[in-house]
Amino acid sequence: MSDTLSLTPVNKPRAVERVLAGQSVMDGAGVKINRVLTQALQRRLDPFLMLDNLASDQPNDYLAGFPAHPHRGLETVSYMVAGRMRHRDSAGHEGLLATGGVQWMTAGSGVQHSEMPEQEEGVMEGFQLWLNLPARDKMCKPWYRDFASEEIPRYTTDDGVTVQVIAGDSHGVTGAMQRAVTEPVYLDIDLPAGSSFDQPLPQGHNAFLYAFRGEVQVDGKSVPNQRMAILANTPDADGVRITAPAGGRVILVAGKPLNEPIAQYGPFVMNTQAEIYQAVQDFREGKFGQTAA
Ligand code: CO
Repeated sequence: MSDTLSLTPVNKPRAVERVLAGQSVMDGAGVKINRVLTQALQRRLDPFLMLDNLASDQPNDYLAGFPAHPHRGLETVSYMVAGRMRHRDSAGHEGLLATGGVQWMTAGSGVQHSEMPEQEEGVMEGFQLWLNLPARDKMCKPWYRDFASEEIPRYTTDDGVTVQVIAGDSHGVTGAMQRAVTEPVYLDIDLPAGSSFDQPLPQGHNAFLYAFRGEVQVDGKSVPNQRMAILANTPDADGVRITAPAGGRVILVAGKPLNEPIAQYGPFVMNTQAEIYQAVQDFREGKFGQTAA
């Protein structure tokens, strides 16, 4: 552990409410995805709307990519664990998301973008998380930023646990991104065999984790590889404790619920049906701009 890091232990850890496998779906032009956070969980995991996990070494599962498509009313957070994906959008932005990199995009009033693999073989592995925007910000100006792997703050504990802080805060280490209203915490936690890690979490935050290497234990419950655990909003709990008897790696995601109505039609997430009709109409009238091929 570095000199400046002081780990705050969790006194009362959250329990696991449910362990889920996700749904196998096709998205984009035919990309095989495990949809871990599905529409049915949007209320329970408010402010998060979706989590997709793509993990394959079969090019046919990912080569088709995600050609031009619009978004409005939400933020998309793409985390590339392994692989290379090129991003272009209607605001003229272009970037290469490579291994360990993160792209944070605030769709706001509307963008069109494409996300296409820039590799023809090998492993493609990553996550896309959708974070809702508060009603007052849904029509904000679109924004995005790419973070290369080395721009993601990280630290290693005495136990050898390596934590990458994509968003929020972990033991005083400030993440790459901060968001005022939803206060998201997004960590990649790599635990060697026999290690344990405590992450304090605000009581009111909804939280989940997803194991993508090995199996971890949370409050005595097993979370197998490629499973999501919804963490209970246990009264008085001050965080989560993760142990990895045989080693494991997880993403941990938490955020403050918005408690606002959710109206979704595909890539548009607003508060009312009327706002959805407006989004569809604006898109048909070309108000989201054009994406270069
Ligand atoms: Co998209």
